[in-house]
Amino acid sequence: MDYITLEKIVRDVEKPSRFEHSLGVVEVSEVLAKRFRLDCELAKMIAVFHDYARYMDGDEMLRFCRKHDIEMVPEEEESPMLLHGAVAAWYFPRITNNWDERAVKAIRHHTLASAHMGAYGAVLYVADYSEKGRRHLDDNDRLVIWGKPNLEKMVLEVLTREEDYSFTVSRRFASVSQECKEYLESGGLFERS
Ligand SMILES: [Fe+2]
Ligand SMILES: [Fe+2]
Repeated sequence: MDYITLEKIVRDVEKPSRFEHSLGVVEVSEVLAKRFRLDCELAKMIAVFHDYARYMDGDEMLRFCRKHDIEMVPEEEESPMLLHGAVAAWYFPRITNNWDERAVKAIRHHTLASAHMGAYGAVLYVADYSEKGRRHLDDNDRLVIWGKPNLEKMVLEVLTREEDYSFTVSRRFASVSQECKEYLESGGLFERS
């Protein structure tokens, strides 16, 4: 399946505001994929599909993950809406017939990030946070994030901002996010294959 076909499928399930966000993520993902010499078509497919499961409610996603033996982290079980990445990752290969593990990992980990999300996961994580429809950022914030020299530093910047935000709203920073941050701080790199 190609990007255009997948975009049509997503357009039919997402409400207009969500779909507009998805297209914003596609736009940033394409720029980042080109810049870091990744497969643009794959990065765009990942981007357009990442929030595909947002229409499900939390309990439905919990049941779905239990039924399909999908591994969950404690923060996801406590806030099941975070599972929309895990559910969309299950659907991606079954809808596209593209079983590329890089896509599955990227979509799986887009909500909390992970040291194991790979370079495509890094592109999605940064694009999801910084696309033009996100009102929590201004142009200067975007330049700070996009101005970083590599994907690892970009993700680290976003994770630092997420950690600060968790602190201001008195929410625990997820341990999987913390592990990813420590991995990057110690020089860890995202897998490209
Ligand atoms: Fe999402
Ligand atoms: Fe999103």
